[in-house]
This record gives sequence, C-alpha cells and structure tokens, in this order.
Amino acid sequence: MVPRTAPAHGTTMMSNYCDYIIIGSGIAGLYIALLAIEHGSVLILTKGSIDDCNTRYAQGGIAVAMGKDDSPELHFEDTLAAGDGLSDPEAVRILTEEAADCTADLIRFGVPFDTLDGEITLTREAAHTVSRILHAGGDATGQHIEVTLSQRVRSTPVKVLENCLATEVLLKDGRVSGIRSLDSRTGTVEEYGCRYLILATGGAGRLFKYTTNSDVVSGDGIALAFEAGAEVKDLEFFQFHPTVLRLPGVAPFLISEAVRGEGGILKNVEGRRFMPAYVAQAELAPRDVVARSIVHEMHKTGSDRVFLDVTHLPSRLITTRFPQIYRFCLEHGLDITRALIPVAPAAHYIMGGVKVNSWGETNIAGLFAAGEIACTGVHGANRLASNSLLESVVFGKRVVQGTEMNASSEGRAVVATNDPCSLPGRAPSPAALALNLPNLQSLMWAKVGIIRSGKDLAEAAAVLAGWESLASQPSDRTSYELHNLVLCGRLMTEAALMREESRGAHFRTDFPETLPAWQRHIVFRKNAAD
Ligand code: FAD
Ligand code: SIN
Repeated sequence: MVPRTAPAHGTTMMSNYCDYIIIGSGIAGLYIALLAIEHGSVLILTKGSIDDCNTRYAQGGIAVAMGKDDSPELHFEDTLAAGDGLSDPEAVRILTEEAADCTADLIRFGVPFDTLDGEITLTREAAHTVSRILHAGGDATGQHIEVTLSQRVRSTPVKVLENCLATEVLLKDGRVSGIRSLDSRTGTVEEYGCRYLILATGGAGRLFKYTTNSDVVSGDGIALAFEAGAEVKDLEFFQFHPTVLRLPGVAPFLISEAVRGEGGILKNVEGRRFMPAYVAQAELAPRDVVARSIVHEMHKTGSDRVFLDVTHLPSRLITTRFPQIYRFCLEHGLDITRALIPVAPAAHYIMGGVKVNSWGETNIAGLFAAGEIACTGVHGANRLASNSLLESVVFGKRVVQGTEMNASSEGRAVVATNDPCSLPGRAPSPAALALNLPNLQSLMWAKVGIIRSGKDLAEAAAVLAGWESLASQPSDRTSYELHNLVLCGRLMTEAALMREESRGAHFRTDFPETLPAWQRHIVFRKNAAD
C-alpha cells in the first residue's frame, strides 16, 4: 500500500503503511472509511467478513429530530433524561445538533429510509417524547445501512482485509504507530503502520449468556485499548433489552422496542398486563425500568418469560412494519398476528467504553475510537433507544474532522485525564470453574447482570481475577476473544462493585438509591498510579 502522507514523528516505516487504519466494519468503521478516503489512504481490518457485525441486526432505527413537533432541543432533553445524570451535556448537544447533517450523508450514500408520500416516516420508541426514529425496510434498518455502506466502500480505493483480527495496538514514543493482526485463516501475523488508528470494534455483548449481539462482538477493542494504556470509562453501565424472543432451542432474537412503540402490550404468564403497576409510562418507560419490571414479574409468577401481545393490532401493520420479526417468528412456528410472543430481557449494549473527547481521540496520541466501543459521554448511565447508530455517525464524522485538525498539532493527546485509577488488586478465588466461554457467560449473567449485589459482584470479580492469572498467551481467534472478554468482564465487574448506588442500567439490591455523591464517572487506566 502506498502512503499518500509520510509517517510523522519518527513513526516506524512499515511496508504496510496507511494514513488511516480502521479496525471494524460496522456502521462506525464503514462510515468513517467513506469520509476518510477523501483525506488519505485507508485500510479496514475486520475479523469476519465485512458484514459480520451488530450493525446489520439493528431493527428500530436511527433517532433524528425531523418531525414537525420535534427539535434537537427536545431530543437533547430526552437523551439527558435517559442518561440519569451522567451524560455529558456538551456531547449530547453535539449528537442532537449534528444528527441531521450525518443522516443526510447516509441518504447520500444510498441508505433507503422508509418514506410515505415522499416524506421519511418516523416511529416512536421508549422514553422518546415524540416519534423520531427513521427506519429502513420496516425493521431491517441495520441490514440496509450495513449493506449500503459496505457496497459503497467496495466502490472506493479503501482496502478491506477480512478475517483479520487486530491483536495489539503498536506504540512508538507514546504515540500510535500501527496495529498487529492475525489472519484467522492462515495464522499469519502482520504489522500495519499508520498515522491514525481508529478502533470501531463495537461493544462486548458476548459477555453474557443471553445476548442480542453478534458473535464478533467480544470487547476486543476495549481490551486492546486498555492494554495499550488508554482510559476506559463507565464500564459498569450495560444495557439489557427488555424484549428478546425466548423460545426453547431458538437463539435470542430481538423483538424491537418499536413494537411497543406501535402499541404492543406486555403481559405476564397469567395473561395480565403488568407494566402500569410498575411505572406510569408503562411499556414505554426507559429500557432499564422495563427490563427490571419484567424480571420482577417473572420472579413473581415463577416463570422465565413474559409475553408481548400485538394480536390487537391490524395484521397488515405487523407484517409491513415488522416484516423481519414476523417472518422469523413464523419460521419458528409462531404467527404473532394471532399468538402472544414469549420474551425475556437479554444483554444488548455497553454504554461505557474507551474514553474519547468530542473529536473521538483517546488519551493516546493518534488513537481514536468510534461507535459502540467509544465512551463519548452521550449515553451516561443508560442509552436512549436508537441513539447508538446516530452516535456512531455523528462522532465518526468528528474523528475524521479531528484527524484533520490534529494534523497541525500532531502528537498532542487532547483528552484531559480525569483521575483514572488502576484496576483494584484482587485475590483470585481458587479456580473451581474451568475458563471457557459458556462458564464466563453464565457467571456474568448470574452475578453481573440486570440485578446486582455487592456479594455477587465480589464473587464474580474473584473468579475473573483467577481466570486472568491462569490464562496463557492467546494464539488464535477463539483464545484472543476469550482473553479480551475476561478482561472486559473484570473491568465491568470492578466498576460495578465500586459504584455503591443504583443509577440507570446499574442496579444494586444493597444500594438501591441514586446518590448525588455518585454523580461522577469511574475511569480505569492500566498502571494509573505510575
Ligand atoms: P459493530 O456494528 O458491532 O461492528 C464491529 C466491527 O468490529 C465488526 O465488523 C467486527 O467484526 C469488528 N471487530 C471486532 N473486533 C475486532 C478485532 N479484534 N479485529 C478486527 N475486527 C474486529 N442501535 C440503534 O441506534 N438503533 C437500533 O435500532 C438498534 N438495534 C439493535 C438491534 C440489535 C439486535 C443489536 C445487537 C444492536 C442494536 N443497536 C441499535 C445497537 C447498534 O446496532 C450498535 O451499537 C451499532 O451497530 C454498533 O456499530 P459499530 O460500528 O460500533 O459496531
Ligand atoms: C430496538 O429496535 O428495540 C433496538 C433499538 C436500539 O437498541 O436502539
């Protein structure tokens, strides 16, 4: 690959050198690539095929204040309310004010948002005060975005390497110099040099036994960044989606919140509607509230599921507005126009991640993060539905703008350190459980899940510390992913143990109140005391 720009500040000249290296090919990676190619050479490394990611599974859509009764100000207020005191107002302002511009880019790239009489149609989701969710193909929004952007990338000079797992961030003189990777088909290890490294590796949803996330979402970028010395923030805040199909022998499948937005009703196994007894907003309360209410109702009724009822809605609305969900359920013997949908909560989205400033840069010069991996400050303690695709493009665009600005202040890290601390030392518990993915996922689900306690968290932290001390050097994709998940699990659990209150998606039975003293963030950095 021929560099358009010479490497700066003594960066090692590697044979594979590029201006921008992007790790990941979901919405964040692809959108950034399409903008960055205007400014330099671009290489995308992605560990599966180009379309293996969470983006393609997104259903509800992308939140943008476009309706006549809406405004960026109203979207700002809803996002801050969902964040439960921990969203950064400046970041939320950027998100809501730059939303329309980035959505226009998506339309320009060819994303076919649904329209009626030439106007984009908007739907409603929980905790949004008005209808503001753009969707494509009904509930196939993510698939349309992913395929449109990946095809567009294929038509540009962006180079894409599939089956290429990023395994280590390379540094020189405190600045990013490139990435080490493993080709998971041939086992070949390569190093690629770059001026700017952008981690767009998504979240860590595979940490949990029940999850809506794709298999490729294993916290790799968070682990890589942390190990390189980047700060990670708010990792105790993990969102569980309330309504995920719970059918024996069928992998978890999301039943979009937009189904409740269009009038779906939650009922317990005895057939009684229960949400109004928990909260006035009922089915349209914030996600964490609905998920916890469902868990209580399942305990009360001794069941592992509740039901979502759409049988009172016109069949045509269901089949045209939610064609994917309708078809998927039908293929598994369930006609949702006539029968109740069995659902339960499952792991869905990580609010915390690699700490970045408003231009997407970490505390390591030249290292950027965008998309679900990044903690921009937008979501705080809880993400508002459909703000994630939006965050990926708004802050993705800013990464490219930031690298352009950074070109004149090369090498300067722009994030102020915010009293980061090291991971607390912890005596490992004797390894009663073998280290493998199912054991890790069961541990996280049981002890670091929707309802937490200090006792459970401390037990989980000790098991995770034991696994860390036993782990050998990873050598293939599976062992790298497990290594990264264990590290992410440990970071999440330690942060959850430190936060002795309940706020947003983090709920502790031993500290059920939200406390003003905890209106602050937990930031970890490796060897922070050094
Ligand atoms: P992803 O799309 O997850 O892509 C990550 C990429 O990184 C992948 O290509 C992966 O292969 C690659 N990668 C990971 N690790 C490595 C590595 N070590 N080396 C190389 N490559 C690597 N949000 C909304 O706003 N609206 C919705 O309607 C919505 N619905 C959702 C429905 C479902 C079922 C799920 C799971 C999520 C949904 N979300 C939604 C959340 C949203 O889809 C994600 O947060 C968003 O798509 C993340 O995009 P991303 O580009 O950051 O990551
Ligand atoms: C959904 O469609 O319910 C998912 C939306 C989101 O996660 O933002």
